[in-house]
Amino acid sequence: MAKLISGKELAARVKQEVAQEVQALRQKQITVRLAVIIVGENPASMTYVAGKARDCEACGIESDVIRLPEQTTEAELLERVRACNEDPSVNGLLVQLPLPKHICEKNVIDAIAPEKDVDGFTPVNVGKMVIGESCFLPCTPAGCLEMLRSTGLSMAGKNAVVVGRSNIVGKPMALLLCAQNATVTLCHSRTQDLAEICRRADILVVAVGRERFITGDMVKPGAVVIDVGINRGADGKLHGDVDFEAASEKAAFITPVPGGVGLMTRAMLMRNTLEAAKRQRG
Ligand code: GUN
Repeated sequence: MAKLISGKELAARVKQEVAQEVQALRQKQITVRLAVIIVGENPASMTYVAGKARDCEACGIESDVIRLPEQTTEAELLERVRACNEDPSVNGLLVQLPLPKHICEKNVIDAIAPEKDVDGFTPVNVGKMVIGESCFLPCTPAGCLEMLRSTGLSMAGKNAVVVGRSNIVGKPMALLLCAQNATVTLCHSRTQDLAEICRRADILVVAVGRERFITGDMVKPGAVVIDVGINRGADGKLHGDVDFEAASEKAAFITPVPGGVGLMTRAMLMRNTLEAAKRQRG
């Protein structure tokens, strides 16, 4: 049976470390602040934003949640972003995605000051990640990397397979694994012989957003399986992209859903926000 990689335990450790540093900064009269802009009332986004605000509170980070109505124009949103960019009391800034259809996400992300881009979504931070320069790493792949590190296994020379090629998870995950000297295969909806490729994976990271997409027969014995998916099942419960029970019988390590990657994503945002504040102080 696979060992569980607990997002709950790892995230608690990361948040405690962040909280200690935030407290030390506070004693030097330095506060750490995250601004979160949410447009409209997408229920999933509202849940995520509430979670981020709670995490901030737990870490001693000040949070400003800026709620804008669904009909906010792109120009109005860009103005809010610019105001946060220019406000020296704001260390980290994120705009919750998705945005309403009449707003171009690219234009909004491009407007975020790279030094406050704690999501790691701006072209400057993405470009730095590609060439291996210090930057804000996107929170989900950074969290997955922490979970992989927690196994104590070396990634060098291993076959790593990433399923899903989104800009937020799959693509950056492939880059980070490459930087760890893994041999990386990035699979997607057009990939042929997906099951065959997955069966060769020593490290399998799945981010496709489809419940039980990865079945037990696609998991190599002894693999490390990282499940990024969060899907609401017909049973009303949350399920990952991996058939957890079947995969657990093959893998050496596996992440649960819930209680896995999602918690690490949030913890990494706290770490990035602290890092932003430290960098801005020089
Ligand atoms: N929507 C879903 N995940 C994310 C995320 O990590 N950051 C932002 N800004 N929006 C999201």
